Amino acid sequence: MASPSYTLDLRRSAIGTVQLPGSKSLSNRALLLAALATGQTQIRGLLDSDDTAVMIESLRRLGARLDQQSLESTSSAVGPEVIWVVEGTGGCFPSVGSQTEPIDCFIGNSGLTIRTLLPAIVAAQAGTGSVTVLRGVDRMHERPIKDLVDGLRQLGAQIDYLGQEGYPPLRVTGVALKPKSEIVVKGNTSSQFLTGLLQAAPQLSRQWHQPVVVRVEGELISRPYVDLSIGMLRQFGVAIQESAPNCFVVQPCDLVSPGALFVEGDASSASYFLAAGLLGGGPIRVQGAGRTSLQGDVQFAHALAQMGAQITWGDDYIESRAAGFDASGLPIVQAVDLDCNHIPDAAMTLVAVALYAKTPTRLRNIGSWRVKETDRIAAMAAEARKLGATVEEGPDFIVVTPPAQLRTASLRTYDDHRVAMSFALTSFVHAGDMDGDMGGEGVNAPGGETVIPSVETRGHSPEPRSGALTPSAESLQGRAVTIEDPACVNKTFPTYFEEFAAVCAQAVPVIAIDGPTASGKGTVAGRVAKALGYAYLDSGALYRLVALQSLEQSVAVDDAKSLSAMALDMQLRFEGEQVWLNGRDVSQAIRAEAVGNRASQIATQPMLRQALLRRQRDFARLPGLVADGRDMGSVVFPKAGLKFFLTASAEIRAERRVLQLQARGESADLGAITADLQARDARDAARPVAPLKFVPNQGVHYLDTSDLTIDQAVAQILAWSSAQT
Ligand code: DC
Repeated sequence: MASPSYTLDLRRSAIGTVQLPGSKSLSNRALLLAALATGQTQIRGLLDSDDTAVMIESLRRLGARLDQQSLESTSSAVGPEVIWVVEGTGGCFPSVGSQTEPIDCFIGNSGLTIRTLLPAIVAAQAGTGSVTVLRGVDRMHERPIKDLVDGLRQLGAQIDYLGQEGYPPLRVTGVALKPKSEIVVKGNTSSQFLTGLLQAAPQLSRQWHQPVVVRVEGELISRPYVDLSIGMLRQFGVAIQESAPNCFVVQPCDLVSPGALFVEGDASSASYFLAAGLLGGGPIRVQGAGRTSLQGDVQFAHALAQMGAQITWGDDYIESRAAGFDASGLPIVQAVDLDCNHIPDAAMTLVAVALYAKTPTRLRNIGSWRVKETDRIAAMAAEARKLGATVEEGPDFIVVTPPAQLRTASLRTYDDHRVAMSFALTSFVHAGDMDGDMGGEGVNAPGGETVIPSVETRGHSPEPRSGALTPSAESLQGRAVTIEDPACVNKTFPTYFEEFAAVCAQAVPVIAIDGPTASGKGTVAGRVAKALGYAYLDSGALYRLVALQSLEQSVAVDDAKSLSAMALDMQLRFEGEQVWLNGRDVSQAIRAEAVGNRASQIATQPMLRQALLRRQRDFARLPGLVADGRDMGSVVFPKAGLKFFLTASAEIRAERRVLQLQARGESADLGAITADLQARDARDAARPVAPLKFVPNQGVHYLDTSDLTIDQAVAQILAWSSAQT
């Protein structure tokens, strides 16, 4: 089922550091080789995603043991570090030969998983009579595998197509294999066929007591991925040489666990943030892949440099920023004509960047896009056209002619993570956005706030750029890009949109004001925002909005899934004190005590908090944001330049609440309200996720307003604020 759409309104800038998730390519290679090796392998930095999950599950079905361990002490900001412990099988999967039923491996839509597992299973099952079935989602059954099957049939392997000839699902029967001095495979559809054979070659060479030669017949695409496989095989002690171009010799040997393995950050995932560094001015640093990376996709940075990015390389990071700005302050983006054979995945990102150039961009030698998660050439062309571009597509190329203005559009993502991640980039301001009304569908900015010129940033590293001008206030409103089924990013980067919202938010000065209920923080925060001309986020209102809907629709407080879906789905509009939910004015309704109470209960659900994370970050807009809540400084805007903890005694807060209720003409009982506040405080402070607490000495200013008027509290915060700038 498709996930709720995500609408990204216009954003101006992006800055900051992104810790990359583990490389998918390295993760899945490491898992399989560790399972085939002798000895135990501890893998750190493994990607947690749909594609790794299907590899892990398949290996378990084959009888391998893979367990997760959490590291107690960790420097990671994203939670406890996880180590995967894989017990090597020495190439003999325990389920093979010990199971009468066929072994059933579901490989989702992971091309790498099926194409590397298949040869390993053929080798492990040789002569056992065991049967394994490999199947996936419908799209997997349209992705070619014939070249690999043909390669394995040279050895006498028995592989049957259970559906369409040349495509999964497959049934592998463990017949005896015929040793061959050379296995020939085609490499012009996918380099993964060669990778699969190379990874199984040590098993075969050991069984046959002779070297195994794997030779590519004809063209080999995506060569850097083959180098990645060779590098990983060598880490497992395999002697492998390229005796002639595209001809590889593997000596008889055991795969031996290296003991510990560290998976570097995903270079393909880096491409979106490097591109954001260009389109949003930057600098953005991607941490986890750099100059010493094994992954070919780091070469994307060179392509981006040709399009206008200034790139800085570190051993394990890459940083990108716009090299120049035009007269209206927008980054200058150059069109390119590029052979992208060496960076097939990351090159999709260039389609989005090309929309910001002035002239057509041609990406060549990308025929493999046609047989990936979807027909990527057709998909990128169709969606870029919705944005107003003129696109020419050929069997193995795409030419993108940027429009004068990008249109508001709702974009299909074809269950393809890279389509979704690439098009998120089109939410950056485009030259056409400077020319007034976009005539779009009128999607509201999350806060309904006005974007006012400024390039000021503070309180975070790397240092912001200087010298860029900014577009005028009103001209930036109106355009938005909607990403349909955004959860498709789970394939490789489950937290992509949260990270994307975070770097966009980090380009904006944020004042975070946290504190208990009725501490006066809402009133104070609103007044501070007004005084500074900043936007204002009342994050409690978001929890109250979900609470209100859950009451109206009788959704249980612990039904995290339904609550999160509501949070992602709700259409919001804030204007001053007024709040609209799906077009209905709920300003009064969300302030009811029952709603506040329920908000406090549902706020304990981690899944709901995660769903609201990017929605909150999306409120950050230049020239700045004042955000109030419980975890603004600790979780939502950890890089906020100024953080406050605002509180008052429970008695004073209860008195204030009584006055508020009486002003609204509602009856109020001081004793009951005090007890209620104390219960809510306890719940907010005790919950395991993002608890409300003041941590001294973490740059958070503490302000007790028990004896202060609102004016005094506002004046105090403004004084701290101006002292900092
Ligand atoms: O600030 P408020 O009373 O409007 O918030 C209502 C509830 O929402 C509060 O009891 C806890 C929850 N909340 C939260 O958990 N995190 C936030 N950032 C804001 C509110």
